Amino acid sequence: MKKKIYYTKPSITDLEISYATDAAANGWGDRCYDYIYRFEEAFKTHLGVTYAIATSSCTGALHMGMAALDIGPGDEVILADTNWIATAAPIVHLGATPVFVDILPDTWCIDPKLAEKAISPRTRAIIATHLYGNLCDMDALLAICEKHGIPIIEDAAEAIGSAYHGKRAGSVGTFGTFSFHGSKTITTGEGGMFVTNDGALYDRVLTLSNHGRSSRQTKQFWPDMIGYKYKMSNIQAAIGCAQMERIEELIIRKREILASYKNILNSSPLLSMNPEPPGVINGSWMPTVVFDQKTKITRTSLLEIFSTENIDVRVFFYPLSSFSFFNNNSLSSINKIAFDIPNRSINLPSYHDISDDDIVRVTNSVLNATADYTK
Ligand SMILES: Cc1ncc(COP(=O)(O)O)c(C=O)c1O
Repeated sequence: MKKKIYYTKPSITDLEISYATDAAANGWGDRCYDYIYRFEEAFKTHLGVTYAIATSSCTGALHMGMAALDIGPGDEVILADTNWIATAAPIVHLGATPVFVDILPDTWCIDPKLAEKAISPRTRAIIATHLYGNLCDMDALLAICEKHGIPIIEDAAEAIGSAYHGKRAGSVGTFGTFSFHGSKTITTGEGGMFVTNDGALYDRVLTLSNHGRSSRQTKQFWPDMIGYKYKMSNIQAAIGCAQMERIEELIIRKREILASYKNILNSSPLLSMNPEPPGVINGSWMPTVVFDQKTKITRTSLLEIFSTENIDVRVFFYPLSSFSFFNNNSLSSINKIAFDIPNRSINLPSYHDISDDDIVRVTNSVLNATADYTK
């Protein structure tokens, strides 16, 4: 059996280990928030935003952000059918309804025209998920949201390092959220970040994040409202601080890996990969190959090819409306792109330490998948 190629693992150096060790040894008592505050400051500086709150996950950051916008029963939130369940679950937890629309064929992100068409009197927000590092068309979405007076939420879990016309992903919406799960470009093991430039929204999420205790409340153990417990620990934040010192290097490496894949695979007319249109920087979190329809490639055949080569790959996100718990309301005849692309796509391995030889091994399997068609 050939050596296994993992699809993701974090880049952890002595710096992360020394900060985590310091937090474990000394980060208690008066110092129990030191790394958390430092991580938030570093993240704000990197992103160019005014406020940031470290959280236990991106899901938690989304949940609190939407709660702070007062999204609740009877409300609707528009998002792409192509999404991880984490983006939709908080909408459901708040008693609101996710409204799934189709994606664009090139970026695999929400189609702004369809998002606008889906707006109803009940719409309370549009979520722009920057899929696999690809950027949503933020100009179009911001214009639509401004016209209709609706907040725009950027789910930038997968978009560290991505930028849209000079602004980093996650920094331009009403609020943005990030994930530091072990598979992401920077990690804290599990973790997330809520960011915004809106002082009142920040204040509300800060209160929600501390079990409803306002930062201005002087009484001990006195919640001002029902809140949440989605906090990041100091030890996780210590790892985050080290990752922030290395963030440029970590992004550059992700971009190099996508570029290496593209160098080898771009010559094939039978596939396409993550786009980088003018004015956009793709953080390249997850190199993804979409095979041409005429190859007749299927998800099952792709998984078989890579499994035989002992290469770990990820399936492209299933459309959320295909899951039965959304009242069996599959939108396969409407969201045609979101239902078609996952059948002929795969996410490739892209951890920072992947070797050039392993990249070649992966691309050989990708090209093998198209061999039957080429013959
Ligand atoms: C687009 C998107 N949103 C949200 C999340 C949730 O992140 P977390 O696992 O930190 O809650 C993920 C994580 O995989 C994601 O890819």
